[in-house]
Amino acid sequence: MRKINSKNQYVFDFNGVKDIRENSEKYFEVMRDLGIICFRGAFLDLEKSMDVLSEISRGFNWTPGYVAQDGRKVDWRYTQNYDDRASAFDVDNIEQGLINPWHLEGMYKKHTMHAVGWNMRNFKCDSSVGQTGFVDASVLVEAMPIEMYEFMKRSRLIHYPIFAKKFPDDYKAMLLNFSLGVGKMDEKIWTIDGDTEVSSNAHDAIQNHPTFGYEVLRLCPCCERWGHQHLLFSVDGKKPTDEHNQMFEEVRGWLRSQLLDESMVWYHEYEEGDFVVPDLFIMIHSAKGGFSPGEREFDGFWCFQKNVDYRENLVRELI
Ligand SMILES: [Fe+2]
Repeated sequence: MRKINSKNQYVFDFNGVKDIRENSEKYFEVMRDLGIICFRGAFLDLEKSMDVLSEISRGFNWTPGYVAQDGRKVDWRYTQNYDDRASAFDVDNIEQGLINPWHLEGMYKKHTMHAVGWNMRNFKCDSSVGQTGFVDASVLVEAMPIEMYEFMKRSRLIHYPIFAKKFPDDYKAMLLNFSLGVGKMDEKIWTIDGDTEVSSNAHDAIQNHPTFGYEVLRLCPCCERWGHQHLLFSVDGKKPTDEHNQMFEEVRGWLRSQLLDESMVWYHEYEEGDFVVPDLFIMIHSAKGGFSPGEREFDGFWCFQKNVDYRENLVRELI
């Protein structure tokens, strides 16, 4: 059912940015058909990583980085090694051996994450550990039982805030504020995040892919300490009934079952020097442990919608 069915289907030797430009149609088709591309043996530095992403993104709605409030082009990157979690990792106690649970990335309205470049510059462990898992949420739409599909087509969801600066000390007050907003059916709910605020926005449960148009299930399977990250916001534009919430619970159960179904999941086996670019609008993903601290570290480069001047969409500053 998943689109990727063999190990080397989306893996290409890295032959420079010029090769990506000259064979742009081939690489575009791989991204369109499989939702992921990997350049092997790339061993990129920060600058080259941005060059590769800029080149790949020509045919897409996304671009690496975004325009900041003062007009600068900003690259939003991060480094991840999971050393804190890897050292505490106990494969028997974590479902599926995951150190990063299944999630859909960047459900922000303003900075929706459409793609990412993961530059695996340090990978000293075996390729049988430290893998990234992928489930294609456009395939999920096709696989859904029809009654669930029809229900989700009528539904809108809202995601708890994604804190970029500071997780609230009193998260119960945040929950109360959030549930009041949901109760009033506020399409946009603001939450304090450090010295700014972040918004949560109601959105269609099934959205069309911005470049290819096909339908994608935009439901994040992840949980926080208080429960699921995604709530049912409305059905046919109205407040959900108990029956609707029950149906939504069944959809979540079905989604969880898909994440455990080998025919739906693809695990990417890394080699040092891999540059992996998944389409994050469709790819629910996770990370496996099994490696030791210091053995696995990558830089990530978030990609956002093209031609959006985020100055028009100012974050509310707190006074
Ligand atoms: Fe992620």
